[in-house]
Amino acid sequence: MMLYNIYFSPTGGTKRVADILAGNLGGEVCEVDICCDIEKMILQAEDVCLVSVPSFAGRVPQIAVERLKKISGNGAKAILNCVYGNREWDDTLTELQDTLDLCGFVCVAAVAAIAEHSIFRQFAAGRPDKDDAQELAEFARKITEKLECGVFGDLNLAGSHGTYKELVDIPFKPEANDACDKCGICAAGCPVGAIDKTDPRKTDKDRCISCMRCQDICPKHARDLDSAFMQAAAEKMAPKLGGHKKNYLFL
Ligand SMILES: Cc1cc2nc3c(=O)[nH]c(=O)nc-3n(C[C@H](O)[C@H](O)[C@H](O)COP(=O)(O)O)c2cc1C
Ligand code: SF4
Ligand code: SF4
Repeated sequence: MMLYNIYFSPTGGTKRVADILAGNLGGEVCEVDICCDIEKMILQAEDVCLVSVPSFAGRVPQIAVERLKKISGNGAKAILNCVYGNREWDDTLTELQDTLDLCGFVCVAAVAAIAEHSIFRQFAAGRPDKDDAQELAEFARKITEKLECGVFGDLNLAGSHGTYKELVDIPFKPEANDACDKCGICAAGCPVGAIDKTDPRKTDKDRCISCMRCQDICPKHARDLDSAFMQAAAEKMAPKLGGHKKNYLFL
């Protein structure tokens, strides 16, 4: 079996969850990173895809939706994986399901899993941890059983279909500081091309999706958010982001 591990993971939390699942699903793994643009892909009914996205304000990041639409599923089986940062995933899984249905996939299972919040790192810090890894391995075992039995009814997921939570512009846009040596790593890695390649100190804030990848990959730690604003936002969000949230499997 060829397992396609397809992921949008700006700061790596979604990929950590995806890798644990993929490693326990077995078979040869082909990685498809949709943080970069992809060519059209045509799959076959015997293919299995693990499709992983983070929840951004309760939705699938729209650039990930655009790139997933370049894949023709042709009856390939899809395992949906939404990674959320300790609040809620709202309509992320249903939007992912609708997108993959339209691409011609058969959605057979879904996971909602926790990873460290990529903006407010103090929430779900260090997750997925050892216990998460064990639980995700068990999820993969149950998904394998379902794939082997070959009977796939409707996958009923909580959340809205067709109309989703309104898209919001997240007001956290990292900016280069004086430590920036214009190496261009952030500009090359930005999933939406929001950083000027000729002058990486310039960021198009309207295009930026606040994914935090530039901050994560900058070797000089030269991309900042307004710390007073961040602290105030973290305090406001704390009641929703606190505590130990769970991983879920839907079959
Ligand atoms: C712009 C943005 C919006 C987010 N919105 C949510 C959310 O609505 N609910 C939630 O639980 N976590 C939210 N998070 C946290 C991410 O879903 C979580 O940290 C995820 O692991 C990030 O994926 P990555 O590490 O692959 O980039 C958000 C993170 C970002 C950057
Ligand atoms: S990765 Fe960092 S140092 Fe390099 S251009 Fe971007 S902000 Fe500047
Ligand atoms: S500029 Fe915005 S969209 Fe680009 S990597 Fe940085 S946070 Fe993400």
